Amino acid sequence: MSTEWTLESWKKFVADQQPNWTDEDLVQKVNTEISSYPPLVFAGEVRTLKQHLADATQGNGFLIQGGDCAETFNDFKADSIRDKLKILLQMSVVLTYGASCNVIKVGRIAGQFAKPRSSDTETRGEKTFPSYRGDAVNELEFSDISRQPNPKRLLRTYNQSAATLNLLRAFTLGGFADLNKVHLWNQEFIATSPQGKKYQKIATSIDDALKFMNAVGISSDKYASLRMAELYTSHEALLLGYEQALTRKDSISGDWYDCSAHFLWIGNRTRQIDGAHVEFLSGVKNPIGIKAGPSLTPDELVALAQKLNPENEFGRLTIISRMGAEKINDYLPQLVKRATSEKLNLLWICDPMHGNTYKTENGFKTRHFNTILDEIQQFFAIHQKLGTIPGGVHFELTGDNVTECLGGAQEISDNDLKERYETACDPRLNNEQSLELAFLITELLRNENA
Ligand code: PEP
Ligand code: CO
Repeated sequence: MSTEWTLESWKKFVADQQPNWTDEDLVQKVNTEISSYPPLVFAGEVRTLKQHLADATQGNGFLIQGGDCAETFNDFKADSIRDKLKILLQMSVVLTYGASCNVIKVGRIAGQFAKPRSSDTETRGEKTFPSYRGDAVNELEFSDISRQPNPKRLLRTYNQSAATLNLLRAFTLGGFADLNKVHLWNQEFIATSPQGKKYQKIATSIDDALKFMNAVGISSDKYASLRMAELYTSHEALLLGYEQALTRKDSISGDWYDCSAHFLWIGNRTRQIDGAHVEFLSGVKNPIGIKAGPSLTPDELVALAQKLNPENEFGRLTIISRMGAEKINDYLPQLVKRATSEKLNLLWICDPMHGNTYKTENGFKTRHFNTILDEIQQFFAIHQKLGTIPGGVHFELTGDNVTECLGGAQEISDNDLKERYETACDPRLNNEQSLELAFLITELLRNENA
């Protein structure tokens, strides 16, 4: 089907993974209300991010995208937002310092409230209720009332996203992200760990460099890039009514931008070429990600690139490979090879989380640090072999000391999972595991450039 794109043209296509809202009038009312609210991000910022991604596509930069699998209304605290920013800043310092690369930081934050699910319903014992689809839709608690989709939650989604962004902007622009504060980003609970100590060393070297630069007149009060960090927001564009409500025409360029976040991605379950999600995102100018699991064929990749990036613009399209450590070698190379032969300008990044999830005997969904690392290493090796560019990573992580993923230097075991298993959806790397991965990726990047 080929029709002209409009704000509503997606409605003529099949939209998978939408909640079974019972009151469609209320959904409409809420989305109309949101469409009258201010945009959360601005077209100019989105264009700057796109330029950074274009640079990374050409080997000049590396993307770190990370945050919760699902943000929640409960975990809405300044400390928790600050700590997520801290870990992203720390990872970025480790990579910038260790591999001399320009790191683009994108949070799964300030809008990541809707989840695709493998089943419409969840059964426990005798009871079956609708599946949890993210706080934008219903509540995690397993009861009939909690699991009913409630469109009013979209208003809270907008408000919490706005407040989260407000705090992130204050932190990144207001001095907290100043390179002179690099020591402060190390959290107490990891300061004495091997990763924390390694980080501390880098922080001390940066301090020394800054003192030198200060002495020759280059200081953070004069140079904004030392004083401020750029952090961009992203989430899965799943609830199309909500995304439509925040899509605005830019007065400067006349183009449409989805102003719910800087970067939006299409999930592995909703990337059908003739589906509503692809249709909707084909009409906005934001940089777009596509999650690519083993079922994505080279032909589909080409068709998606043609529909989503007909002008083959650098920075527009990021392929987020999430194959799983056991499958990546069988499935990623054919996609990369085809993209190269079609001369598609794509940024390739690795999500080593979603293809490596399993349930332990105790019923916890988890992922093992070694398997995550294994997939990243294979991702780098594949690109090295094919002469293409490994452009970034995509993680589910948190700044807290949770116990959701196994392994890492703390050697989190099956038995430890119950201690601090706090995610509303998929297991996240904790602070120390995230930092450890940043150090390991630095080595991979150094080899790449050697
Ligand atoms: C996610 O990123 O949380 C997710 C659901 O991923 P995928 O679409 O790759 O399964
Ligand atoms: Co997830």
